Amino acid sequence: MALKTRLKRIGKRIPPVYWLGGLVNYLKFRRELAREQALYDAKLRHGGATVPPPMLRYRVHRALDEASFVATGPVVAADLLRCLESQGVRLDGLTVLDFACGPGRVVGEMKARSRNCEFHGSDIDPEAIEWAQRHLSQVARFQVNAPAPPTSYADASFDVIYNVSLFTHLDESNQNVWLEELARILKPGGVLLTTVHGKYTLDSCTPEERAELDRYGIAFRVDHKGRFKLDGLPDFYQTTFHAREYIARTWSRYFDILDHVEGGLQRHHDVVLLGRRAVAAQ
Ligand SMILES: C[S@@+](CC[C@H](N)C(=O)[O-])C[C@H]1O[C@@H](n2cnc3c(N)ncnc32)[C@H](O)[C@@H]1O
Repeated sequence: MALKTRLKRIGKRIPPVYWLGGLVNYLKFRRELAREQALYDAKLRHGGATVPPPMLRYRVHRALDEASFVATGPVVAADLLRCLESQGVRLDGLTVLDFACGPGRVVGEMKARSRNCEFHGSDIDPEAIEWAQRHLSQVARFQVNAPAPPTSYADASFDVIYNVSLFTHLDESNQNVWLEELARILKPGGVLLTTVHGKYTLDSCTPEERAELDRYGIAFRVDHKGRFKLDGLPDFYQTTFHAREYIARTWSRYFDILDHVEGGLQRHHDVVLLGRRAVAAQ
C-alpha cells in the first residue's frame, strides 16, 4: 500500500489529526468545486452544457472534471452489454432498470445501443434524478427511490436490472434488503447484473480490512461522515469490498449465481450476474 494511504489510515485513528485532515480535504474540495462550477456556468450561458454539473459528476465517480465523466459512460455500457451477452441476454425489446442510475451516465449509452428496449432509472439522489428527468426524458423514465425498500415498482416489472457501483457502497444489512427488493421487481427468469469491489481493488485495503475479508468475506470501510463527506450522499454510503466466496455463499439466498467475472468492469470492479429463479408451480 502506498505511503500516503498508510499515513491516512494511521491519521484516521488519532481524532485531532482526523478532523484536521477532514477540514483541509473539505476546503480543498470546495475550492476545486467552485472552479469547475464557474466553468460549467460559463458553458451554460453559451448553451453548451450537455453533461450534469460538477457535483453530480463527482457523486458518480469521485472526479470533478467533465472529460472523464463523458469518456466513462460508453466503456461501461460496452462492458455491461458484453457480460449480459455472455449469458445469452440480448437487449432487444426488453424492459430494463438502471437501479442507482445517478444522473444517467450509463443509461444514456445503453439506450443508444438498445433503442427498442424500455429503460427506467432510479436513484436516492433527487438532484441527479431531476437532472436526468430534464435532460434524458427521451432515454428513460426516472424516479427517486427511498434509501430503504420497497420501490414503487410492481412485482416482476423488469427483464433486466443492472447497478453500476451500488453494492460497492452499502453495508451488509443494506445489501440484503436491496437484493430481496431487486429479486421482487425482477421477472422470474430475469437477470440482475451488479458490480462489486473484488480482487482487482484489494491493493487499497488495509491489513485489517483484508483480515475482515478473510474472516467474513465482506469488509465495510467508513471514511468521512456528515459535513466532511464530500459527495453529500447519506452517511450509509461508504465503501465495501467482497470476496468471491461470500457472494456465492450469501447472495445465492436471493438469486442463482450465473457468473462472477473478476475485473469484468474496466479491470476494476467484478461483475456479478444473478438470475431470478422461476416461481415454483403451485
Ligand atoms: C458510484 S454512483 C454510480 C452511479 C451510476 N450507476 C453510474 O455508474 O453512473 C452510486 C449511486 O448509487 C446511488 N445509491 C446509493 N444508495 C442507493 C439506494 N439504496 N438506492 C438507489 N440508489 C442508491 C447514489 O446516489 C449514486 O448515484
